[in-house]
Amino acid sequence: MIIAIDGPAGAGKSTAAKLLAKKLKFLYIDTGAMYRALTLKVLDKDIAINDAQSITELALSSSIDLINNPDGSLKVFLDGRDVSADIRQPRITQFVSEIAKIKEVRSVMVNLQRKLGEQGDAVLDGRDIGTVVFPDAKIKFYIDADFKERVNRRHKESLELRQNITFEDVSLDLSNRDNIDSNRKVAPLKKADDAIYVDTTNLNIKEVVNKLLSFING
Ligand code: DC
Repeated sequence: MIIAIDGPAGAGKSTAAKLLAKKLKFLYIDTGAMYRALTLKVLDKDIAINDAQSITELALSSSIDLINNPDGSLKVFLDGRDVSADIRQPRITQFVSEIAKIKEVRSVMVNLQRKLGEQGDAVLDGRDIGTVVFPDAKIKFYIDADFKERVNRRHKESLELRQNITFEDVSLDLSNRDNIDSNRKVAPLKKADDAIYVDTTNLNIKEVVNKLLSFING
């Protein structure tokens, strides 16, 4: 069974998806991490962000693996190297949406995501899971929260990672990514018609997971 979770950054998708997968003993597939891993390689190789052809070639020749640990945490490997921490750096967050809007890059990633998902039961989170990657997913959620709350959460996370970023910087980054992710030509962020809309603004993570479980078991 496939559970698709889409929504904007900071809405609580990844944390909820990870916990949900652990509870259900499903595979957790963080599709944003895959775009982040490619962005890391593009930046490290000094490839121009608008060089779609070179970036596509890089996507085709790279190996990106997601490993689920028994404790529920996820490790991301790029060409065999653990990049789980590196892909959360602000420089990656800043450019990832530009890379993710390239049509050919998306088709490489979507193929990979389908292959991973087809291995068995899986929870996937991203922007286009219910609309493009798995349009026939048994259960689809669209997880959202007020903009200010999303900025609050991402700012708190960046402080926990000891990243020196102001609230204003996080706010600018989120509105920039919301804008690119929602308005790109290919597979823009949008709620699938048959997705369940969940507003997490006033919910803690346990409440979010319980709410999702109640729909799944319901
Ligand atoms: O979920 P995240 O913030 O780690 O995702 C990083 C970026 O990757 C996000 O700004 C847009 C892109 N993305 C995408 O275009 N499609 C997905 N399925 C997942 C992420």
